[in-house]
Amino acid sequence: MKFSRSSSQWITGSLLCMGLVSAHTVIVYPGYRGNNLHTSGDVDAVEGLGVAYDKDNDTLVYPYGMQWIYPCGGMPTSQNRTTWPIRGGAVSFQPGWFPGHARAMVYINLGLGTEPPNMSHPMITPFEIVGPDNDPYPGTICLPQVPLPANIDVKVGDNATIQIIELAQHGAGLYNCADITFAEPEDVAEVNDTNCFNSSHISFETVFTTSSLESAGFEIIKLPAFITTILPALLALAYGMLMA
Ligand SMILES: *[C@@H]1O[C@H](CO)[C@@H](O)[C@H](O)[C@H]1NC(C)=O
Ligand SMILES: *[C@@H]1O[C@H](CO)[C@@H](O)[C@H](O)[C@H]1NC(C)=O
Ligand SMILES: *[C@@H]1O[C@H](CO)[C@@H](O)[C@H](O)[C@H]1NC(C)=O
Ligand SMILES: *[C@@H]1O[C@H](CO)[C@@H](O)[C@H](O)[C@H]1NC(C)=O
Ligand SMILES: *[C@@H]1O[C@H](CO)[C@@H](O)[C@H](O)[C@H]1NC(C)=O
Ligand SMILES: *[C@@H]1O[C@H](CO)[C@@H](O)[C@H](O)[C@H]1NC(C)=O
Repeated sequence: MKFSRSSSQWITGSLLCMGLVSAHTVIVYPGYRGNNLHTSGDVDAVEGLGVAYDKDNDTLVYPYGMQWIYPCGGMPTSQNRTTWPIRGGAVSFQPGWFPGHARAMVYINLGLGTEPPNMSHPMITPFEIVGPDNDPYPGTICLPQVPLPANIDVKVGDNATIQIIELAQHGAGLYNCADITFAEPEDVAEVNDTNCFNSSHISFETVFTTSSLESAGFEIIKLPAFITTILPALLALAYGMLMA
């Protein structure tokens, strides 16, 4: 795998052409469950619910937008899974399909099994992205080697779900998922700098507070060995957090 660090390509594919100006995150790789960029129904008709049943046409409506719904933005588990390397691999997505993401926090979690009981296995230390401004912006970010969570035991052929959460500046979470099947790396589609890259106008920042400095001393001491062996992709992200 070879990555160009200076890549400044923007994804200008069909989504951009469709002019989805109020869209949210879109997972580029592995493939997402499907398009959940919809808002439907009327806020006044659902008494403030994020998702409601519309009996007139027998559908669920999402008057604030589907992607706000845990765990996967209103999308059911898909049948079309992507093979993903059993020791970790790439995750790429477009973070700027929604106004208000000049800054956003990003979490990537794993749910185990065909129908994961939860998405409570963090794969990375959360980080912050900085985009050009609060208008929707194009472009992708790519983490080429997202590791499996520690102490997770999976076999080739096991199913799982990768959940990406993007926290908007007001603190609410946008959810999106990709369903995977673990495979040996040679049985996974090639990831390279044409399909997985960082757009130059989106930068990364670590989240770091004084209290996390004190409370997280243990991890700070462990960090160098951990990062060079398991998390090379996150080296530049440095570290911080443990807000929970
Ligand atoms: C799975 O199928 C849905 C619906 O056809 C599609 O929107 C989505 O992109 C597909 N995902 C993958 C990983 O192929
Ligand atoms: C069902 O009705 C709601 C509210 O009128 C509307 O937003 C939604 O698009 C409709 N869904 C379908 C599938 O027609
Ligand atoms: C993984 O999911 C597919 C459906 O997407 C299913 O056919 C298959 O049996 C599942 N594999 C395991 C090991 O549960
Ligand atoms: C989350 O799911 C895992 C299985 O993937 C299970 O072992 C664990 O107990 C669950 N955690 C919670 C808090 O439910
Ligand atoms: C990148 O990988 C894709 C398959 O995922 C392949 O079709 C394409 O040729 C590769 N590009 C380069 C420059 O290697
Ligand atoms: C994108 O940037 C992040 C943070 O600096 C880095 O960890 C990652 O490796 C970069 N991705 C690529 C494809 O170079």
